[in-house]
Formats: sequence, C-alpha cells, structure tokens
Amino acid sequence: MMTKISDRLKSLTKYISPDDHVMDVGCDHALLDIYLVESGTIDKIYVGDVNPNALQNGKENIIKHGLDTKVFPILSYGIEKISEIEVDTLIISGMGSKTIIDILSSPNLDKVYKLILQSNNNWEELRRFLNEKGFNIFHEEIVPDGKKTYINIIAGRDYTIDKYTDKEFTFGPKLIKDPNNLPYFESLYASCEEIYYRSKTDTAKEKLTMLEEVIEYLKNL
Ligand SMILES: C[S@@+](CC[C@H](N)C(=O)[O-])C[C@H]1O[C@@H](n2cnc3c(N)ncnc32)[C@H](O)[C@@H]1O
Repeated sequence: MMTKISDRLKSLTKYISPDDHVMDVGCDHALLDIYLVESGTIDKIYVGDVNPNALQNGKENIIKHGLDTKVFPILSYGIEKISEIEVDTLIISGMGSKTIIDILSSPNLDKVYKLILQSNNNWEELRRFLNEKGFNIFHEEIVPDGKKTYINIIAGRDYTIDKYTDKEFTFGPKLIKDPNNLPYFESLYASCEEIYYRSKTDTAKEKLTMLEEVIEYLKNL
C-alpha cells in the first residue's frame, strides 16, 4: 500500500519532474520522499537532515518501505554535501523562511537550478533573498495546514532575472494574480487593518494600500 502523506506534503509533489535530481533538505521522517519514489514520480532521491535522530527516523521509514536502494539519507547541515552528489533541485519544506535562507546561503547553491520551498512565515524576506540569488518565482500556492498557513514557492533560474515590485515581494508575484486567493487576501486585509488602527504606522498603512489594490484587481478578473 502506498505511503499516506499530509495534504501539505502532497501539495509539493506536482512540482517535481522525473528528470530532476532532487535532495530533500530537512527531510525528518522522509515520508514525502518515500511517496515520491513509490508513486513513480522519480526513480531516486537524496534526503538530508542535520539532526541524527530525525535522520534515523527517516532511515527506519526508508528501510520499512524497502527503498534503501532509491532513497539515500545523508547527515548534513543544509546543502554542504551536495558538491559530492548529483543534485540540481532542492525541496525544503515545513519550516520558516529564516531556516530556509540559512540553508540556501551556501556557495553550493550555484549547482541548483530549481527550488521547491514551503515556508510558514517571512515570505517577503524569502522572495527578496531568492531574487538576489538570481532565482525567478515560477509558481506560488497558499497551503492551509491546521492553524498554520504555508506558502509553496517554486523558483528557478532563467536567462533573465525578473524585477518585482514591493507589492509582489510582499504578497507574492503569482499569488496576487490568482482570483482563487481573494478570500486569503480579504482576511489578511482584516488583520492588517486591526494592526494599522492599533499602530498607525506608515508601514502598516502602506501594506493596507497595497492590499486594497490586490483585492480590487482580483475582484475585477
Ligand atoms: C519541521 S521539520 C520538517 C520536516 C519535513 N521537511 C516536512 O515538511 O514535514 C524540519 C526538519 O529540518 C531539519 N533542519 C533544520 N535545519 C536544518 C539544516 N540547516 N540542515 C538540515 N536539516 C535541517 C530539522 O532537523 C527537522 O528535521
């Protein structure tokens, strides 16, 4: 029977192509990676974690599913070991943007052309970092998960580097063009409005103005 994974993890699977050479950084249980191989999405995958206990957890799941010749665990801080293996695509999921940025702040990022990222905070900072490192944002998706909201950001290298506006960095160049996200932005507006009434800061006001524009645009699509 195929491994069951959460909707949050499943939302990432559609971004992986059979010819990607993938490492899942911060794999923990490695369930996503087991699923990717069992479902035939990819033939093999490297999985890394900095925490030996988390990696052990992943190793046990890999062996339980008989996949130790296809899912390869590596004890590693971020992407420090990818110079030794064939990897051009990274999955980094289920964590905050600061940890993701820390992982990507390595000279080994030069080897990577595709990033499948899933963060639950500080998305503006992550988008600005990706842009500085020469990545364009190809897809974005809002993924509710219990009390948390994750955003999937799929980024890659292209011939030219896109220039984003402040509004795009803050709210997502792809998210602000998708009418399905209207309820998300309306609820964000309500919470930003509360913050503005309490703080009366220029930054909060600017955010509200940008959100008004986003909502107006999405309503008229
Ligand atoms: C919250 S879990 C997420 C697990 C899985 N990716 C998911 O989406 O369910 C975060 C994992 O990332 C690992 N981690 C955090 N920082 C890391 C780093 N710099 N390098 C490798 N792994 C890291 C942690 O040890 C932990 O196992």
